[in-house]
Amino acid sequence: MSNEAFITYIAQPGGSLSGNIRVPGDKSISHRSIMLGSLSEGKTTIKGFLQGEDSLATLKAFKAMGVHIEGPDEQGQVIIHGVGMHGLEKPKTELDLGNSGTSMRLLTGLLASQSFDLTLSGDHSLSSRPMKRVTDPVMQMGAIIETMDNGTAPLKINSNASSQLNAIEYTLPMASAQVKSCVLLAGLYAQGKTCVTEPAPTRDHTERMLQGFGYQLEVEKLDEQRSRICLQGGGKLTACDIDVPADISSSAFFMVGASIAEGSDLTLQHVGINPTRIGIINILQKMGANIALSNEKVVGGEPVADIRIRSAQLKGIHIPEGQVPLAIDEFPAISIAAACAQGQTILTGAEELRVKESDRIQAMIDGLLILGIDCEGTADGMIINGGQLTSGTVDSLGDHRIAMSFAMAALRSSGKINILDCANVNTSFPGFVKLAKSCGLDVSSEETDKTPGDEA
Ligand code: S3P
Repeated sequence: MSNEAFITYIAQPGGSLSGNIRVPGDKSISHRSIMLGSLSEGKTTIKGFLQGEDSLATLKAFKAMGVHIEGPDEQGQVIIHGVGMHGLEKPKTELDLGNSGTSMRLLTGLLASQSFDLTLSGDHSLSSRPMKRVTDPVMQMGAIIETMDNGTAPLKINSNASSQLNAIEYTLPMASAQVKSCVLLAGLYAQGKTCVTEPAPTRDHTERMLQGFGYQLEVEKLDEQRSRICLQGGGKLTACDIDVPADISSSAFFMVGASIAEGSDLTLQHVGINPTRIGIINILQKMGANIALSNEKVVGGEPVADIRIRSAQLKGIHIPEGQVPLAIDEFPAISIAAACAQGQTILTGAEELRVKESDRIQAMIDGLLILGIDCEGTADGMIINGGQLTSGTVDSLGDHRIAMSFAMAALRSSGKINILDCANVNTSFPGFVKLAKSCGLDVSSEETDKTPGDEA
């Protein structure tokens, strides 16, 4: 039986973060650049593509469907020779999307009406995540998709060559950019006008990039929170060049680290600051963080800036619920900030955290309790009382963001923190240990063989 590599991080206590660094490219934008580039007419050149396992899973999926894609090279340049809306070919095997929820949920929409059958599969974590949220609306449009009994992957999409999808008017049951994108991408192939209403603003990279590829969209703000996005099926995409900014979600670990570690002064370069992603900045600033933006510009339809963070005494807050979808991937990192803050931090309205790569509420609370923090999980959030982080061994449960958050916690812990099961950091942040070390975090990575029955 083959062994799989098991990665443990060992983070030594103390230190500070300083310097000028650039984290890898935005994961959401990288996925979408492969999808739209592949379906466009012409040649798309992508700069700054994230070479993480998740976005590479999307890239491999399109290669398997016959798209000629060059790269990524060492600088993250990818060249896609688009095949047009109807140029994909049947893959020889099922498409294995690894740990990547974005690949699976967006491809469900995009591939729902191709002229071939195919199966989307994933790893253990992805195979336990809810997929009915995407299969339901796409099936309402006429797609034929089989899931496991409990609505999970593998997803078998049956070819729909004879019957075109029909447009729908869909109200998202939860604030999810993946579901919104899935329905819009299915709508590209539908007869008529597909409209999606979102209950709160979620990341709008799909909308921005569709427009960048020359596809017309209507976006109507219904009130403070809700928007309705519509597109007419049957159009085409025209290739364009994409400059992927550094990922604000990967930057978040460093924003928290530099905020909590005394003496820090760190600048993060060329970070995407799309208004639908900046919850981390808003929340940390409300907690008293010292964060300054400079060099703001718009690159390929996405705003970017350099972000300077200096250490500050943080205070506990009740996180405004309106910020939750804007910081949905950042709560593992924010809970470390809360553990180092003075007073109590309360998070509500974040039940979606329970169905991410892990149950992120449980994973963070379990780890923080081991590290001596007084905290508890609630159905839709957490209550964290700031205190002294101690030392111990915590389990990331194979969730990249849990692993990187606990690594940053060591900047304020009284002893060493061991973090188990960190291999999946490579899904979103290849080179994390090296980059974190280069700016002052004393973290190392150890590889051991994991044999069955040896589970930590
Ligand atoms: C993503 C949307 C979010 C986020 C995920 C990436 C995207 O998921 O958590 O990491 O690229 O659309 P939800 O749509 O489930 O909120």
